[in-house]
Amino acid sequence: MRARGLFISFEGLDGSGKTTQMRRLAKRLRARGHVVLETVEPGGTEIGGKIRQVLLDAANQELSPTAELLLYFASRAQNVDERIGPALRRGEIVLADRFTDSTLVYQGCGRGLGAETVLALDRIAGRGLKPDLTLLLDIDVETSLARARARNAAQPAGETRMDEQSLEFHRKVYEAYQALAAGEPERIRRIDGRAAIEEIELAIWDMVSAHV
Ligand code: TYD
Repeated sequence: MRARGLFISFEGLDGSGKTTQMRRLAKRLRARGHVVLETVEPGGTEIGGKIRQVLLDAANQELSPTAELLLYFASRAQNVDERIGPALRRGEIVLADRFTDSTLVYQGCGRGLGAETVLALDRIAGRGLKPDLTLLLDIDVETSLARARARNAAQPAGETRMDEQSLEFHRKVYEAYQALAAGEPERIRRIDGRAAIEEIELAIWDMVSAHV
């Protein structure tokens, strides 16, 4: 797919502050007159929202790794066809709270399904769409789990199935993010997620304002 707009994704462990930073960036971009689509994976569309419920419901313990992988891509295919693709073709800026890099690290590496399988599905579901820029909010596993637990305690009926995975799973995900960032330093920019919110916001603005 030939995109005319600008596609920026946010990545990082749970609790890394992606969502807060994405909102702040959207606000700055809109203040500059840009049309911005904010989206989230899994989710982003009405159908994607239903798929999200299946994926994150802690009751679905028997969900198999392959079914999990396909559901993340089902949500993405719907989002790309219905929202992201059209917005980019209109020349808008798309901000995505997670995209295929999440699938590479959580399912490809965390679940051990392999990068090849993930990339093969991405060619179908994502139509080869790749973010122009990916902001990786870097926090360690312990901080991530502590923040996710605090968040889940505040929302008891929350979406906790992925957060409840083992420490080893989250360590694999962390390592996979580091490897991915090292392999594509031009696209994937690492940002210290433990810095103050305002400091991170400015660091992100420095990187993004060069592109808009
Ligand atoms: P969410 O509550 O949105 O977490 P966060 O705020 O940290 O993004 O839940 C999304 C969960 O789904 C998160 O644990 C990461 C996981 N995930 C995958 O395993 N594979 C994927 O392809 C995507 C998009 C998310």
